[in-house]
Amino acid sequence: MTRIIPPGSTVGVLGGGQLGRMFAMAARRMGYRVHTLAPESDTPTGQIADVEINASYDDLDAVRAFASQVDVVTFEFENVSAAAAEAAEACAIVRPGGRALHVAQHRIREKTFLADHGLPVTPFAPVRTEEELTGGLERLGCPGVLKTAAFGYDGKGQVAIGDRDAALEAWDMLGRQEAILEAFIDLACEISVIGARGVDGAWSNFGPIENAHRNHILDVSVAPAGVPETTAALAVEVTRGVMEALDYVGILCVEYFVARDGRVLINELAPRPHNSGHLTFDACRTSQFEQQLRAICGLPLGSPELLQPSAMANLLGDVWANGEPDWAAALAFPNVKLHLYGKKEARPGRKMGHLTALAPTAADARDLVVRARQALVTRP
Ligand SMILES: Nc1ncnc2c1ncn2[C@@H]1O[C@H](COP(=O)(O)OP(=O)(O)O)[C@@H](O)[C@H]1O
Ligand SMILES: [Mg+2]
Repeated sequence: MTRIIPPGSTVGVLGGGQLGRMFAMAARRMGYRVHTLAPESDTPTGQIADVEINASYDDLDAVRAFASQVDVVTFEFENVSAAAAEAAEACAIVRPGGRALHVAQHRIREKTFLADHGLPVTPFAPVRTEEELTGGLERLGCPGVLKTAAFGYDGKGQVAIGDRDAALEAWDMLGRQEAILEAFIDLACEISVIGARGVDGAWSNFGPIENAHRNHILDVSVAPAGVPETTAALAVEVTRGVMEALDYVGILCVEYFVARDGRVLINELAPRPHNSGHLTFDACRTSQFEQQLRAICGLPLGSPELLQPSAMANLLGDVWANGEPDWAAALAFPNVKLHLYGKKEARPGRKMGHLTALAPTAADARDLVVRARQALVTRP
């Protein structure tokens, strides 16, 4: 029998961003205490947590002290070093474990692991030398995308490659660091599946969510995704396969490319709640954050049922370009919910919050959330 970590216990979150903030809200609602560790202070997570520890993830003494104060450690930020994950594991239960993190935080390890388990990934080649780059280009053809192997997010650390000459230039631009070359996929759309897996192997998922990006940053997510039944079923099964291969405990998001030729390919994994799942907070019986809590505490998973079609629009710092957004104008739409992350400085491209809309159809929800977001922007 699984030993449960009951309400009243303390959960530790490594990372201080909005994913940890919404997790902390779910955890506190259910009577848990929350500690967070991040290099910054007054973080989105820290504002909600009981205790905020201010330390670098590489300060292993601080990570050990943090872990020894809590009953279970989880992540909202995946770029914690293997050494830090090990330090935490020496002092507390860590879910997901360091191995899943290690695989997901490095694009070559990630795609190699998936391919070795027979899971469908974007065709790729590791790039550590000039020979590997030219060899990869020959095998994959052009156009392609060159991405740094580690620490990329929101399109940072990636360059599109139109032809062979551009490839070397692109690699130079990335400082010739370890990289991955991918075939450029002609996309019909992008979807994500967020799965939850319990300590006992119980599994659940939120069903495919459709994601539209702008400048490589998630812009709008819609549930349910407008893909054929067979595509949806395949993505769900592949997600389950990924989580079983990793013997995963917690929440994991698999981002997929749906190609125009019908292929469904894994783009990347996120070993934590995901931006595309923010709509589950308002639209599902159990949110991705509560599901993360249940999974890591050995509790039964909740129902992921989508109560109504829903859409989420990110609010980037750009929304503040002409001054304070017109909150009342967006909230005048009664089926729209506002979420803000407590970040003080609204820099362009920075994720400051999001809006969620519920409506009778997915198309209506998308339309509504986009109109509400437009209403926020005050005219100069
Ligand atoms: N191989 C590719 N083919 C087509 N589009 C791509 C490819 N790689 C990345 N993209 C586009 O760029 C976005 C961000 O890339 P991703 O690898 O997910 O990096 P990040 O870690 O920044 O999210 C993707 O969601 C997709 O829109
Ligand atoms: Mg991505």
